[in-house]
Amino acid sequence: MEVVIQPSTAAAVELVAEIIAREVQAKPRSVLGLATGRTMESVYARLVQKHRAERLDFSNCQTFNLDEYVGLPGTDKHSYRHYMNRLFFNQVNIDLQNTHLPHGDAPNLAAECERYERLIHDAGGIDLQLLGIGQSGHIGFNEPPSEANSRTRVVVLAPETIRQNTPLFGADKMPSHAITMGVETILAAKKCLLLATGKSKAGIIQRTIEGPVTTNNVPASALQSHPHCTIVLDEAAASALTKVPRKR
Ligand code: F6R
Repeated sequence: MEVVIQPSTAAAVELVAEIIAREVQAKPRSVLGLATGRTMESVYARLVQKHRAERLDFSNCQTFNLDEYVGLPGTDKHSYRHYMNRLFFNQVNIDLQNTHLPHGDAPNLAAECERYERLIHDAGGIDLQLLGIGQSGHIGFNEPPSEANSRTRVVVLAPETIRQNTPLFGADKMPSHAITMGVETILAAKKCLLLATGKSKAGIIQRTIEGPVTTNNVPASALQSHPHCTIVLDEAAASALTKVPRKR
């Protein structure tokens, strides 16, 4: 696990966007695993700029998002499909047909989870998986406790996650369940890239990087066992680390 601490949030975002851009340039048919959430908004904004200014080409990429809220159709403004279309897919030259999220409104959720796993498998697996982290220690929506061998499934969102994301729903009720790729699905990606910024992530980042590997308590700690995982932090998110060399 490589931990890179950047002097500012903007520099951390820039590095993550640069790593994704390099991946896509090296392999135009890249299969990208994508994340949503507030932290990622500026990553997508930077990738859109790179597409416009540097002609970063997504036309041959396929994407798989980590998760989606149960019960929300892709047209709902709170759905992650809506987020991805608005902030990224509709602003670059990706073919929407090649962009995938679990269908949170599928009539048979178990079948939908199996379909999603199969799609990822049929695409040849994920080359680079982008990740954020929740204060509960979740990656995707793998809340504690999660099994290390979990695959795409329906999960109940942790109270902390509900607290963290409820403000985004305004007057609307936030769903209590989501479909998420499992811990094992995420770890099967050839490379993982986690971005965390801000003081509110410092405690969980310290446990993720320096604590024991325990998907029951901190699902993100499973990344310690991934052979190609990069964690990019700003100074605030890194502020509780005690052992990691402060590399820049
Ligand atoms: C969402 C996802 C989540 C978020 C996490 C952090 O697709 O994968 O794990 O990355 O909840 O969210 P923010 O960035 O809003 O703090």
